[in-house]
Amino acid sequence: MKAQCSYIPISIATLTDGAMLGLDIYQRLQPGLPATLLFSRNEPIDLHQLPAPNSCVNRRVLICRQDRDQYEQYLKNNWGRILDDPNVPVANRLSVMNEVVRDVMNGEFHQGDIQSIVSSANEVAENTVRFLNSGQLHLRQLSEVLHHDYTTFTHSTNVSFYCTLLAGHLGYSQQEQKEIAIGGLLHDLGKLEISERILKKPDRLNWEEYCLLQRHPITGFEKLADNEEVSFGQLMMAYQHHERIDGSGYPCGVRGSDIHPWAKICAVVDVFEAITSERPYRVPLSNSEAAELLDKGRGREFDTEMLDAWLEIIMQSERLDVTRSHRTTVSVVA
Ligand SMILES: [Fe+2]
Repeated sequence: MKAQCSYIPISIATLTDGAMLGLDIYQRLQPGLPATLLFSRNEPIDLHQLPAPNSCVNRRVLICRQDRDQYEQYLKNNWGRILDDPNVPVANRLSVMNEVVRDVMNGEFHQGDIQSIVSSANEVAENTVRFLNSGQLHLRQLSEVLHHDYTTFTHSTNVSFYCTLLAGHLGYSQQEQKEIAIGGLLHDLGKLEISERILKKPDRLNWEEYCLLQRHPITGFEKLADNEEVSFGQLMMAYQHHERIDGSGYPCGVRGSDIHPWAKICAVVDVFEAITSERPYRVPLSNSEAAELLDKGRGREFDTEMLDAWLEIIMQSERLDVTRSHRTTVSVVA
């Protein structure tokens, strides 16, 4: 055991037999007891060494905070395999997917190199879309593992996942969903040019700040327009995701069929993500409250087909959740 080690928990579900993580893994058998070494950094993981291995799927072990980068690197190298592993609970796999994509986008957005951002978005979308199409999850499960803070990379990550769900529900192919997922990751790229002070300002923006904010679809378009990896639809997601069906949006005020369908998808989930997340000036809405609010923009702000499909996804998820909690109640009573 290391002296002076500050521990952070990791999910046992992300570990597989034989994996070499290159970091020490600890367990704490009871609260208050000191952590003890489980696997040293030079030995492979042997899950059978864990007590009660069949019941440990949701349990956590500990690593030193200073080894966090090493653990994240392990996740990035192995997340495709973890997402495909039926022995890992869906919630854990969703969590791994979210942590990896969010972490990759965080790093890329902070570096600010457009080519690198586009390449990384292409890389992460493959696993994401495959997993989100595996038919084992619903919106509530997904939104429960997502972060809901107001950073551009978190927002973009969440919007990308939601775009994939909506595109899948609308019948787009997995290849199209992948392109739309990438577009979701890139849609707010123009915000990289706007200061945090404006993006996180708790008070009403002044006119100058408001104009600056409204330029971000144009800036995003300019950043992506020359990139050969970016398709027309993805470009339109960045350029038109604040356009509205009745022409009341920005930056151009185009309406109806002049708005690209992928931008219409992005518009619905972009607003949903924003109103269900923490903002400096208000509390997040629940999924059903958000559905009610979105519905007020039917045919005026949002395309009816896209909105209906998204509301259906929300309602299905809420119904499943009610069924799930009902089942839990019954089994507890029984
Ligand atoms: Fe935006």
